[in-house]
Amino acid sequence: MEQKKLLKGVAAAAGAGTAAAAAAVLGVKMKKQEFCPVCTAKRVVHKLWLNQTAANRYNNGAALTPPMGWSSWNLFATHINEDLIKQIADAMDKSGLREAGYQYVNIDDCWQSSARDGNGRLQCDKATFPGGIKALADYVNARGLKLGIYSSNGTWTCEDYPGSLRHEAIDADTFASWGIEYFKYDFCHNVPISEKAPRIRQIELSRPGEGACRVFSVDDVTLSGRARIVKDEAIGHRFITGLCSRAGSFALNTEAEEAGDYVLTFLAAKADDAERFVRITVNGRDEYHVYCTKGRMPLHGERRIQTTVRLQQGVNTLVFDNPVGSRFDSAAVQYKLMGRELKRATKEYAEKNGVPEKPIVYSICEWGFNRPWKWGAEAGNLWRTTGDIKPTWVSILALYEWTVRLWKHAGKGGWNDPDMLEVGNGKLTHDENRSHFSLWCMMNAPLILGNDVRAFVKEDGSVDADNKILQILTNKDMIAVNQDPLGVPCRRIKAGTVDVLLKPLSEARAAVCVFNKSSRPASTPLDCRKLANEGFVNLPAKAGYTVRDVWEGTVTDCDGKLTAETAPHGVKVYIIG
Ligand code: GLA
Repeated sequence: MEQKKLLKGVAAAAGAGTAAAAAAVLGVKMKKQEFCPVCTAKRVVHKLWLNQTAANRYNNGAALTPPMGWSSWNLFATHINEDLIKQIADAMDKSGLREAGYQYVNIDDCWQSSARDGNGRLQCDKATFPGGIKALADYVNARGLKLGIYSSNGTWTCEDYPGSLRHEAIDADTFASWGIEYFKYDFCHNVPISEKAPRIRQIELSRPGEGACRVFSVDDVTLSGRARIVKDEAIGHRFITGLCSRAGSFALNTEAEEAGDYVLTFLAAKADDAERFVRITVNGRDEYHVYCTKGRMPLHGERRIQTTVRLQQGVNTLVFDNPVGSRFDSAAVQYKLMGRELKRATKEYAEKNGVPEKPIVYSICEWGFNRPWKWGAEAGNLWRTTGDIKPTWVSILALYEWTVRLWKHAGKGGWNDPDMLEVGNGKLTHDENRSHFSLWCMMNAPLILGNDVRAFVKEDGSVDADNKILQILTNKDMIAVNQDPLGVPCRRIKAGTVDVLLKPLSEARAAVCVFNKSSRPASTPLDCRKLANEGFVNLPAKAGYTVRDVWEGTVTDCDGKLTAETAPHGVKVYIIG
């Protein structure tokens, strides 16, 4: 509306025939509205920008190799209950899956009640999970396995159960108290953080329960970037503005007599155009996220906004800014917040109860929408690179093609996640199942099974050792490629209808995967000495190599020349040393 008026003014002046008059009108209007064309242009460009990095790894001590486990979603979707989860845990225990390395039993969406409890905590569906989640975690733990759970970085989950956005701390505490060790955080019903920041004029700090407080005016802070002081004539006060879209920040120093929680209150001008967001970073370490509701009752122009911050004894530096310039930033900031809360919650729970800390593997699931490979390693342990997998060849191929290119972002404790496995689901052929598993192993993807593992145990309780799917999922060599301590994913060294993937392994070895995407058999010559020339593998150039065929189980000594015969949609995987 205002912009329209502005344009009208400019048009009218131009119509009158004088460019000078137009400029004058524009100038007056710009001054009045503090219109800044450069800032507007910058803001538009910033919207396309991701300003987040993964400078520091998440480092919670978990998932140093890609996590291995099972999830309820791919096959059971909304039809889950406590008995099913128990049966799955039993089957993982009895079938040899646990010995093969699969540890996590992950409950996906639909475990929750539709309402939080009286204390604002998430609670499980009391009819389908009558024993509660803590008891289920105990059951799973008793079988040498770990329990995982799910929520959404939104107001609701994808199946419309209560989400965890703006409930991060309390939900992390709940999960830690239940003994959860894997947490998948979806993106449905997400509400992005506003790029706008409140206009702030006074900051107060007090101890809880004490009225007396330290007061800071706009003249007591240090402004940076585009932060500046403006007078609001209507309200009659000077406010700090210019914190929107990462444009500026301000800092204040305060001395605390003792360490502890302090009430932080700031006076902010009311805003009726949008919700506003400010981040308060204390001593460059702890972040507090404060939302200022949209709305402006006409009686008073400003209001008191409050949060609690933890200060250390002595001098503390508090920085106020809004780090969000784009939707990418928003997602990164939100996911990082939950990651920090999970780490805090598990640590605090362990300290309070005198038990060993159970770190929670943190799985970010925003479907690759906000370039999570760029910031995921700082936010959590794994990040979905794509939309949902389906048990079809087309889906598996598409997810592989996208993810294989992202190798450089993955490493110890932080993994690209092309979604959970569909091995054994749908109508995938034996070769397709093998290829799917091999590709995920080569890419260092998490190995989270999505099939009904109860089928691996016969009625008499013995393992169905002839089960072809079980044989694929427990192939020791293939799993060792995925779990190799170096933690380096494969790179595609040849792309076409037949791809060749090369992956460095510990002990001066490498894994090679020849992947035939076509519907015809293929014959692919390989030369180990040429592979050794690839700088990123530590494979020595030598006269003879030991070659282990992962799927045939054969070991041969050769001069390094071999021909990989692959079936349609099939693979050959060799470990060379
Ligand atoms: C999204 C996720 C899936 C699954 C469902 C649950 O689609 O990407 O993996 O968790 O939600 O509702």
